Amino acid sequence: MNTINIAVIIGSNRKTRVTPRLAKWIAKQIEEITDVKAEIIDLAEYNLPLFDEELPPQANPERQLGENTKRWLEDLGRADGFVVVSPEYNRSIPGVLKNALDLVDYQMRRKPVLLASHGSTGGTQAVVVLRSVIGGLKAVSLPDPLTYTGRVAEDIDEQGNLADRITSQEKGPHKAIVPRVEELVWYSRALCNARQ
Ligand SMILES: Cc1cc2nc3c(=O)[nH]c(=O)nc-3n(C[C@H](O)[C@H](O)[C@H](O)COP(=O)(O)O)c2cc1C
Repeated sequence: MNTINIAVIIGSNRKTRVTPRLAKWIAKQIEEITDVKAEIIDLAEYNLPLFDEELPPQANPERQLGENTKRWLEDLGRADGFVVVSPEYNRSIPGVLKNALDLVDYQMRRKPVLLASHGSTGGTQAVVVLRSVIGGLKAVSLPDPLTYTGRVAEDIDEQGNLADRITSQEKGPHKAIVPRVEELVWYSRALCNARQ
């Protein structure tokens, strides 16, 4: 079976952020699945320009890209599927994430996206916004998001390990992870085959 590549995008960039913890935990769960690789894509490492192009990227085949944007788009283009991990900021997604997505033309087209969120109450409003943005990029958001309802800063360490007091719980915010990542891999494989 071909290896499936999943890009796990960290959707915030402030110095004291906690979203990388959630992203690393999700990436670890993905790597548990046979023939699947997870690559963390951290927006803080790209220093992307604020979008100011003359035309929408999808309507501009002659785009001239700067180095950072080129690298961002190439990294997305290599993936068969995505997890967009976003905190909720002011009932929406962080500006850095929206800007990065506005720079995308067709790198996510016909590929599945698992929407993962957190915030004071799971980040459900970030998911609503993201689902709409992902549609604009011609990507396919999976029906069920992963809304982490626990406290990321308290539950997950900097290496992406979930605290024992959470894993030992029969019910909890961590229980949805396995079906969500399995569904993502199923869609990634199916759409990868269909695109070929
Ligand atoms: C500017 C800002 C706005 C926020 N607005 C919301 C919000 O509307 N709803 C919510 O549930 N949490 C909100 N939060 C809490 C964040 O979702 C939470 O602190 C999360 O850890 C931020 O992710 P980060 O640490 O990766 O930046 C906000 C945090 C910040 C910094």
